[in-house]
Amino acid sequence: MKYYLTTPIYYVNAAPHIGTAYSTFVADFVKRFKRMQGFDPVVFTTGSDEHGQNVERAAKAIGKTPEEYATAIATEFVRQWKELGIDYDHFIRTSDPKHHETVRDLFERCQKNGYIYKGSYTGQYCFHDELYVNDAKPGDPCPDCGRTTETVTEENYFFKLSAFQQPLLKLYEENPKFIQPETRKNEIVSFVRGGLNDLSITRTSIKWGIPAPVEGAHVFYVWFDALISYMSAVKDENLWPADLHLIGKDILRFHAIYWPAFLMAGGLPLPKRVFAHGWILFEENKMSKSRGNVVRPLPIAAVTGADALRYFLMREITFGQDGSFSYDALIGRYNADLANGLGNLASRTLSMVHQYRGGVIPDSGGSGDIAQLAEKTVETTVEAFDEFEFSRGLETIWGFISIIDKFIVERAPWKLAKDEACVALLDETLYTAAEALRITCALVYPAMPESAAKIWAQLGVVEPLDRVREAGLRWGQLTAGHKIGTVAPVFPRLDAKTSIEKMQRLEDEERERQAILLGKKPEAKTAPDATPAIGIEDFAKVDLRVGQVLSAERVKNSDKLLHLQVDIAEAKPRTIVAGIALAYEPEKLIGRKVVIVANLAPRKLKGITSQGMIVAASLEGGSPVLAGFLEDVPIGARLK
Ligand code: MSP
Repeated sequence: MKYYLTTPIYYVNAAPHIGTAYSTFVADFVKRFKRMQGFDPVVFTTGSDEHGQNVERAAKAIGKTPEEYATAIATEFVRQWKELGIDYDHFIRTSDPKHHETVRDLFERCQKNGYIYKGSYTGQYCFHDELYVNDAKPGDPCPDCGRTTETVTEENYFFKLSAFQQPLLKLYEENPKFIQPETRKNEIVSFVRGGLNDLSITRTSIKWGIPAPVEGAHVFYVWFDALISYMSAVKDENLWPADLHLIGKDILRFHAIYWPAFLMAGGLPLPKRVFAHGWILFEENKMSKSRGNVVRPLPIAAVTGADALRYFLMREITFGQDGSFSYDALIGRYNADLANGLGNLASRTLSMVHQYRGGVIPDSGGSGDIAQLAEKTVETTVEAFDEFEFSRGLETIWGFISIIDKFIVERAPWKLAKDEACVALLDETLYTAAEALRITCALVYPAMPESAAKIWAQLGVVEPLDRVREAGLRWGQLTAGHKIGTVAPVFPRLDAKTSIEKMQRLEDEERERQAILLGKKPEAKTAPDATPAIGIEDFAKVDLRVGQVLSAERVKNSDKLLHLQVDIAEAKPRTIVAGIALAYEPEKLIGRKVVIVANLAPRKLKGITSQGMIVAASLEGGSPVLAGFLEDVPIGARLK
């Protein structure tokens, strides 16, 4: 039975970071796992989302055509995915003529079935996210990125999304696993219950897009274009419908509402499942290019290997929820789980087979107890992976590894080897450890394909790992007389300090390389070297206090300014005018603890006297991010 899965197709306004790599790693995992379960063929599509005004603008800014610009970035994605060991089958670019054809075809089907009409649209649009913001007023910020929306009026073609409220609700009800995880599904169901507005799906204001088969210079709106790439990638391959769309939670609405509605309108089969994972946070915020807080995968892979990064993301984060990345945690897990855990089991076991049995697997069925435990481990892990509970599956495998470690210590082969009466027991011990390692290796393969293949080769197994099916996970398949290979460490221990420094240095280099690729001047480093040093007495002059926002409202005639009342435990709250309106909704700030420069000389902004300043990280090209605290802190406390 076939299995067809997809990642989102990535915008060409940035090169991969570990947020975008996350969806891709997971898809690669699922491909390998589904193949192990016996699905055939298993086909995985990724790609690039190239159209729209942002690309048009970015290309123009550096004197390139949109095609040239998009090609440069799409090539970068392809190169990086290859370098990270991603085994995708199709890389679909929305500029591909085969995709254009599929988009036009679906439009015509929808039109024929009466779901397309011509209308006029005036509304607020976020050019950055390529998103119409329903119910927004001129000057309102985009709910996703905080940038000011722009008013646009156009005559364009509409899709009758409103006609699909009931069919969509029926779809969700009849296919309880169509949207996962469950919490996200509930959000979508209540959104759809609230009613759906028709959707404008063409533009005349944009040139860089797929021309619609209508009179006039209409091109398709990005989502009508982008979603259909999942079908165009496998055109004529008999793979549609997709079995799985893996996406981030930020784009669930498009996948769970628009996409099935488009397909229903065109009379085409619907995908089986949409799984929305959470965000990778870095320094407390969603890692994203516009925030400027991204960490790139290649510098990490150069130090720990790509597998360690994949393992970390899948083990550390419950799939479906948000989770944090930090260099410290990555190295911590690497040393504990990979160097000490799996790596140690492999080198210890294989070295003992060499040392005590000349590198030949002895004749034994292994320990009955461990054999049983192995079967149970396989069952639980496969069931967890099948439910997209990657972290639980990996935890189960590591539980097994630690039991095997204990088993080896308890049996103490180094003592058995000295006692002639213990030959059979030593055989059993070595067989048990080696067979447990073989099964472990096959189980971790979807998460760490490169490292698993290395251990596999050291075990001397000839059958490639990608051919192993579930039946190959049963106990007892290492045969007596089997010769193992040469042993070499797969996960050498890493020194935290030097490894982190190296990753950060490579990250700085990579950031600059990418800035050039994207035609931008390099982003400022987090700690600019150029700042002159000051003494502690200078720093002590700045009165930094913890404050709590009591009220917040927009300053009239200003996009950027908010008028805040902040309590810093003085007789009266301070009035503070802050340039953070593009990044923060005023009502969301109320009650938030912030850092205030309390002794800044008062100054007037738009007629309001600001009695201090609020402290925020200022990111080049990104929105400000307010300083805050992880622990609770009393209002008025001084920062020293
Ligand atoms: N082009 C659209 C998708 C069209 S699919 C038909 C798009 N592109 S994107 O490049 O902005 O992001 C795509 C996906 O990257 C997100 O949905 C998510 O899967 C992933 N991520 C981007 N940043 C992320 C994190 N910080 N954390 C986890 N995933 C993130 O949206």
